[in-house]
Amino acid sequence: MSPNPPVVVHDVTALGELVAGARRQGKRIGLVPTMGALHEGHLSLVRTCRSECGFTVVSVFVNPSQFGPSEDFGKYPRTLEADVQALASVGTDVVFAPASDAMYGPGHATWVEVGAVAEPLEGQCRPGHFRGVATIVLKLFNLVGADVAYFGQKDYQQTLVVKQMVRDLDLPIAICVCPTV
Ligand code: PAF
Repeated sequence: MSPNPPVVVHDVTALGELVAGARRQGKRIGLVPTMGALHEGHLSLVRTCRSECGFTVVSVFVNPSQFGPSEDFGKYPRTLEADVQALASVGTDVVFAPASDAMYGPGHATWVEVGAVAEPLEGQCRPGHFRGVATIVLKLFNLVGADVAYFGQKDYQQTLVVKQMVRDLDLPIAICVCPTV
């Protein structure tokens, strides 16, 4: 039997209500942050999340602040319908797919800089990339209020950046790094 299709929400109030409901039932909340265009690697993160958490939230948000000026944010694939279908096949409770202006309101001015770990490698060829990643990941952590978040080992430097931020800011969330698929 295939699992129930996910509830797709676009605003933070609806997200908060669903997560609060799961919390009241004593469920462990897991978050898989993505930018959509989902493939088997993402689905393997969702499967792990489901095996460890009673409530799985997958965020789908193409984060403008992690793209450089010469990178084509506009051309990044946006395939929400297919993503939701794929997530239904593995089981997901909520897909959080906010509009761009819901995440960066007018006057947004606060950014997360994680220091040395973000500087070499990808940080060098994509200046500002990890600042955008850390900022959106922190916002997602705050909005979802998950107990644990799942990231792929494939994005190795990103996992170091996220772990550094969680340690330095005492964020009440566990980070699970899953093998590359
Ligand atoms: O790895 C990604 O897809 C993105 O960097 C993330 C973590 C969803 C933040 O936008």
